[in-house]
Amino acid sequence: MTEKYNITEAAMKIIQDRRSIRDYSDEPVSDEDMRMILEAGRLAPSGENAQPWRFIIVKDETTRKRLGAIARGGSGRRFTAEYVTKQMHERFATMEDEEKKKKIFEKLTSGSVSAFLAEAPVNIVVCGKKNVWDMPYDTSASIENMLLMATALGLGACWVIAPCIDIRDEERLKELLGVPEEFKIVSIIAVGHPTRYPKPRPRMEMHELVYAERWDEAYYREEA
Ligand SMILES: Cc1cc2nc3c(=O)[nH]c(=O)nc-3n(C[C@H](O)[C@H](O)[C@H](O)COP(=O)(O)O)c2cc1C
Repeated sequence: MTEKYNITEAAMKIIQDRRSIRDYSDEPVSDEDMRMILEAGRLAPSGENAQPWRFIIVKDETTRKRLGAIARGGSGRRFTAEYVTKQMHERFATMEDEEKKKKIFEKLTSGSVSAFLAEAPVNIVVCGKKNVWDMPYDTSASIENMLLMATALGLGACWVIAPCIDIRDEERLKELLGVPEEFKIVSIIAVGHPTRYPKPRPRMEMHELVYAERWDEAYYREEA
């Protein structure tokens, strides 16, 4: 029993410690660590056990630079759409420092926030079989398993969807990587040795998101 208790604590610690890491050293990720991460992805649950995921490991710098450039474009377009539709203004409505806000908007719309992909020594390109019903959920489960294993290994990882949102970008990626028509590129996971751990991003409280029996009846009380 003691052992089970320790494992539970360790599991929660890994979940709590996981961050989206976007700054990495040049140190390569060892084959053993890569194997552990991919094994975690392979063992994920999937609807009807369809296992629609396939993973392309990209280490080549030139290819990573191409992936980073596509991610920059996709991210920039997405945030620009958020900007022109005023969603971005709503998101940062409580921020009073106008100069700081302007800098953040510029950074987001430039797409630079996702270009870091190229700086990670490894990019895991996650592909999913299109004709599988639950493919987006299946691949997401597999990605989360890999993020948690990377954390457990002391590595840093980030789930990046930016280069796969726009169908034209996805087509570019598919051609670059030789992905067959019946697969979709779902996301890319950047993996490396972290040089900077960002602060935890805020999460909603339990009382805001768990309901008892029916919608809107709080399951937990707000803690004083
Ligand atoms: C489906 C999904 C897509 C994401 N895409 C991107 C992305 O394109 N670029 C990026 O920098 N981070 C991306 N992220 C990371 C989120 O920004 C991050 O998980 C969130 O801000 C919470 O921060 P944390 O992961 O450090 O807890 C993505 C996360 C998820 C789950």
